[in-house]
Order: sequence, then structure tokens, then C-alpha cells
Amino acid sequence: MTFSEVAPAARVVKVALGARSYDIHIEAGLLAHAGDYLAPLSRGRRMVIVTDQNVLPHAATLQGSLTRAGVLGKVIVLPPGEGTKSWAQLESLTDQLLELGVERGDHVIALGGGVIGDLVGFATSILKRGCGFVQIPTTLLAQVDSSVGGKTAINSSAGKNLVGAFHQPAMVLIDPSVLDTLPIREQRAGYAEVVKYGLIDDFAFFEWCEANGPALLAGDAQARAHAIAHSVAAKARIVAEDERETTGKRALLNLGHTFGHALEAETGFSDKLLHGEGVAAGMALAFAYSARLGLCPGQDAERVAAHLRAVSLPDGLAAADITASGATLVEHMLHDKKMDAGTLPFLLARGIGQTFLDKSVDLTDVAAFLDAQAD
Ligand code: GLY
Repeated sequence: MTFSEVAPAARVVKVALGARSYDIHIEAGLLAHAGDYLAPLSRGRRMVIVTDQNVLPHAATLQGSLTRAGVLGKVIVLPPGEGTKSWAQLESLTDQLLELGVERGDHVIALGGGVIGDLVGFATSILKRGCGFVQIPTTLLAQVDSSVGGKTAINSSAGKNLVGAFHQPAMVLIDPSVLDTLPIREQRAGYAEVVKYGLIDDFAFFEWCEANGPALLAGDAQARAHAIAHSVAAKARIVAEDERETTGKRALLNLGHTFGHALEAETGFSDKLLHGEGVAAGMALAFAYSARLGLCPGQDAERVAAHLRAVSLPDGLAAADITASGATLVEHMLHDKKMDAGTLPFLLARGIGQTFLDKSVDLTDVAAFLDAQAD
């Protein structure tokens, strides 16, 4: 199946959550007229844009579009990087928002990748007991995953994303053309989360990824827009079914994340392995482990790994440059926030597009599997 055989996806996706419902608008070039979407939320007041130093050119574009829409945009610039998801930055940001007189009925704009979205989302969940925010994600990973669904958090000394809240944005504005300036490694890392939607429950979309993933990463605007719209629609459907991850449905979005978390922990959550790269290797491992358990055909596991290799994403431990023992990696998994009453739920698969949650995985066997992978 090629891109031309796929119907164009809708460019407005609704996240149906009753009173907390919101629209996701996807349009190349949207940032230049984002003010048209934002002005109705401004209540005739200025709006605060929170961004990081790497996104300053986009902040200027956004500020210009707000001005043209008759809204004064005030910009707060934070340092880039995972270190910004900290108590110190949360305190500093909430102080600045209070100094600027942000009220409960206002909407703060999060312009950036997952770090900015998570921090601003959490800050606004507690500011004045909860004020509004809008997500304008500028990385592929944030566009297809973290900006949608209302998970917000900072990191603590005990681990990543351990302090946070569910707080839905009022709107998500996605401009795929901002990805033109995103480094290719970041694009690939975000693409791992795109492939994830095919692997979870959408075999046809995985086939689409196989046919179109390389073009998408080469900058094909149509393929990129289709992938974003399709991914966001999948996420919106899953979040609408299980907003707070209580039924197991939303947990499917964690495919590859338990193995991936162990690999990220082993590399110190550093640039050695980006989150999306950890997820890619983790998804390959989840399929390989499912095949080892006889749950999934070995050829499906190999097909997943082959596609990840085709787009230069890691397809396992060696490609992720991980040499730690299985026991060490399992030890990292025990610090995963998904631990539940002493057991660790795993996402396994019966085939491509047939992911399921398994709460009875034997961690000793997982460690043996990982050791065998390293041989
Ligand atoms: N990134 C997983 C989720 O939003 O549930």
C-alpha cells in the first residue's frame, strides 16, 4: 500500500471527554495564523507563551500571529532539555505565571516538545487550583503522543515523570511544517511512536508505515501529515475510552516502554538513547519476547525489527548499544512507575496489531531472554 492509496485523514481530530473535550487542529503553516485559534481563548487579555531556547524562532512566529489577532503574547523562555522537568523549574515557572497575573480562566500556551508540554501542563494543573492551557507541540514525538491525552509531569530524584497530574489541554495546535527544522535523529525518535499505533491494534497502518516511513523521514509533507493525523486520531480514541489508564486500554500506549525504560535508565536518561529510540528497541524486544513465549509468530517479530532497521531506529539491545545483563535491566524495570501491587504489567503481542496487557510475566524469564538477546 502506498500513500496515494490511503484516504487523506481528517485534519481536525476531537478528543471526546465530555466537559473536557477538545479539538486537535493539524495544518502545515498553522503557526503563522495560530492567533486565529487562540484569540477566542484570550478573553481580551494577553496570553503567556512558555517555550525553550531552541524554539525561539517559532515563538516569534506565534507571537506575531497573536499580535495580528489582536492579542499581546508574553513569552517565558526556559532552558531546553529533560532537566527542565524539575521542581526548581516548576517553582520558577509558577512564580512567573503568578507575577504575570495569570488567572484560573486564562490559557497558558505550551510551545515546544514533550518537556515544555509536560511542565506547563503540570504547572497549570496546580496554578490557582487549575487553569487552562493549550499545547502547540514542535517535535514529532510531542505531536503524535505527549501533547494529546493530558498526562503531565515533572521528574523527581526517584525517577522520571513520578510527580504529575492528568490535566487536559483546551486545544492542541499541530503545525507539521515546524518539523522541517527538527534534527533527523529527533524525527526518527518521534517516528517510533507513530509505528507504535500500527503495532498496537492497526495492522493496516503498520503496512502504511512500512511503505511510507522512509519518505516521511525524508521530509515528504503529505506522508508526515497523514501519519500525524492518523496517530493523533488513534490516541484520541484510546484516551476517550480510558482517560486515566484504569481499564487497561490506555496502557496499550505503553508498548515498548517497559523494556525501553530499562534501556533509558541504563543510559542514564541521557542523549545516548532518546526516549523514542528506547521505545523502538523496547517494541522490538516486546515482540521478540512474545515470540519466545510462543504468543506471536517469529516472522512478525522479525518484520517489526526489519522496519525499525529500515528507518535507522534501534531494533534491540545491540543496536541500542546496551551491554548490561538481563538482571540489571530487570532491576531498572522494578523502578518503573507502572509497577502495580508488586507486579509489573507488560505489553505483549499475539501479532502485529494485536498487543495486549499481561500481568503475569516472570521477570526471571525476562532477564534470561535479555541475556540470550545479548549473546
Ligand atoms: N504516552 C502514553 C500515554 O499518553 O498514555
